Amino acid sequence: MSKVEQNDENYTVYYHVRAPHGLLNDPNGLVYFNNQYHVFFQWNPEGTTHANKTWGHAVSTDLIEWDYLKPALEPTDWFDKDGCYSGSAFEREGKLYLFYTGNVRNVNGERESYQCLAVSEDGIHFEKRGPLFDHPNNYTAHLRDPKIWQEKDEYWMILGAQTLDLKGTTIVYRSPDLLNWSFEGEFMDALPDFGYMWECPDVLKLPNKDVFVFSPQGLEAKGDFYQNIFQTGYILGEARSGKFIPDKEGFIEMDRGFEFYAPQSFKDDHGRTIILGWMGAMDPEVEAAVPTINEGWIHHLTLPREIKIVGNQLLQQPVEELKELRLASFDLLKDIALKDRIILSTPEQEMNCSWDESPASFTWNFRNEVTITYEATEKRITVERTNWLTGERETRSVNLTRPLETVQLFLEDSSMEIYLNQGAEVFSLRYFNENRTNMWQWKDAKWKNHLADLTVHELKRTIEFK
Ligand code: FRU
Repeated sequence: MSKVEQNDENYTVYYHVRAPHGLLNDPNGLVYFNNQYHVFFQWNPEGTTHANKTWGHAVSTDLIEWDYLKPALEPTDWFDKDGCYSGSAFEREGKLYLFYTGNVRNVNGERESYQCLAVSEDGIHFEKRGPLFDHPNNYTAHLRDPKIWQEKDEYWMILGAQTLDLKGTTIVYRSPDLLNWSFEGEFMDALPDFGYMWECPDVLKLPNKDVFVFSPQGLEAKGDFYQNIFQTGYILGEARSGKFIPDKEGFIEMDRGFEFYAPQSFKDDHGRTIILGWMGAMDPEVEAAVPTINEGWIHHLTLPREIKIVGNQLLQQPVEELKELRLASFDLLKDIALKDRIILSTPEQEMNCSWDESPASFTWNFRNEVTITYEATEKRITVERTNWLTGERETRSVNLTRPLETVQLFLEDSSMEIYLNQGAEVFSLRYFNENRTNMWQWKDAKWKNHLADLTVHELKRTIEFK
């Protein structure tokens, strides 16, 4: 393939929340407070390694344009001196409460974890109140990532934990006032040998269904499943009085791509349940080879995704507001007799594609780098990219439960989110290829059959750091 309109930018992303510089990981403290969306995030402002974790802070009124504020929490106290680790936010009586884990290395170099509180009147300046309770018996120091929800007039906190025989689990605490907490035991019976640590647990309360989301570490790859260094998934069921009763389906991976980890949810003032995740956890050597390190930054968050349950199916859909990103739109079905390729004007694009009837098998290639293949008989989607460390092609796949109907795709210069069948499956991934072009090319002429819509939108750049 010839090089067309070779891209000369530095893999910058322009509409996904990233940090101005340094390393970003988990989204934290997501909340709608005082007429603003607050996104906090794990942030090392001093470098592109996993150290010096503060809570970076960005605010928005529309989930599109973001203002960056000073870090809300910095590791300056004895109980968080080696990192203000992940946690969540909760509003009570006009005040914003942040719950987070203070990470400490003691004089012997051993880990200690403190579950801490910080309180704010304005959502900008936070007063640390220190640890909330003593470390519970029977769990290792891998105890972190408090997430709060409310049932009637009680508050519940869930924490990622590790048992003394090194199994991942979650424990819960209960409080009448967000200040005094009592230990209530395990959230669910531990799944047998389901990894050595569960990070960033979350409980989503949706109409008729609760969703327990967590990020287990230490699962072995099995067929299409658990292919990444760490996984994130969910179990549908019912959360009541500190216990989770799972439905029978078990653990389902939330995203089938290469980079998605540690998502967090919140409810906004419209009652929507929205998540953002981190794109994402990588093998350390692969992470160290990410070329944006040369530009002084690494990683970004996913787009905000609304979570719905339809039937018994969890759907993740980019929030409505993202339509405001659209600049010029091209209806490819009307505009042109579809050729085998189009040249995109910029990397920042959204594509929407739907079919009237099940499509035949096809392969799409984006930017001389990422391919999406659909095998119609198996209803199987495979996404392939080049590993930027090894130079090898690598794949992730899923078999859909029903034939492909829709694809919604968000593209940036080094990032892609692919939503299939109204968000029943999602693939999130980064890609870095010096020879990337702006071409979108498709093979197998038959994929055009039954096309109902094929629209491409150029997207606005809303996040730029000078
Ligand atoms: C998940 C995680 C959390 C921890 C944070 C530290 O990516 O390991 O468990 O609180 O990142 O940055």
